[in-house]
Amino acid sequence: MNVVVRSGRLDEGERLKQIAVVAKAFWGDELDRVLDWADQGDFSPARLRELVVFVAEAEDHAVGWCSVIPQGETSWLEDLWVDPDWIGKGIGRLLFDRAAAHAEGVGAVRLEWEAEPNAIGFYERMGAKYIRDSEPREWGRTLSVMGVELRG
Ligand SMILES: CC(C)(COP(=O)(O)OP(=O)(O)OC[C@H]1O[C@@H](n2cnc3c(N)ncnc32)[C@H](O)[C@@H]1OP(=O)(O)O)[C@@H](O)C(=O)NCCC(=O)NCCS
Repeated sequence: MNVVVRSGRLDEGERLKQIAVVAKAFWGDELDRVLDWADQGDFSPARLRELVVFVAEAEDHAVGWCSVIPQGETSWLEDLWVDPDWIGKGIGRLLFDRAAAHAEGVGAVRLEWEAEPNAIGFYERMGAKYIRDSEPREWGRTLSVMGVELRG
């Protein structure tokens, strides 16, 4: 399987949104609810410009992506989504490693994010630990903020 991780492009917000929708719905949330959630998100070029986006490409199309917000000592992992057709093939790890390497490269000492409950096992495999509870998020959920220390 040939998967390449490249920087995101400002004109691919629609495809990134599609991947986020099918990935979020993968855990069984109602599609209408997930579509509403996605419509409240911002996938515009202006928003993508504010993020550091990495896209995993297989068979010449985008199959997963992540985004990072650098903010001093702690970089923030804002997104991590893998198209369900490609889940379980190592793409999540590739994207996570790229996000962590980027964070380290800009001088962060840790990477943190809010974890979807079904993805906690994946993040633990990435070496992450629970840090604190989030503020209430979509659908009134409180999520676990998780993080990894970066080697520096
Ligand atoms: C969570 C997600 C990003 C993982 O991506 P993936 O490509 O399936 O993960 P990988 O194949 O790289 O798995 C890496 C390791 O984590 C393990 N793993 C993957 N998903 C797991 C899960 N949900 N629970 C426990 N372990 C998991 C794998 O078995 C593998 O273990 P190994 O080190 O023994 O080989 C992907 O399932 C996804 O996008 N899910 C839907 C959206 C989502 O939840 N995103 C996260 C939002 S915070």
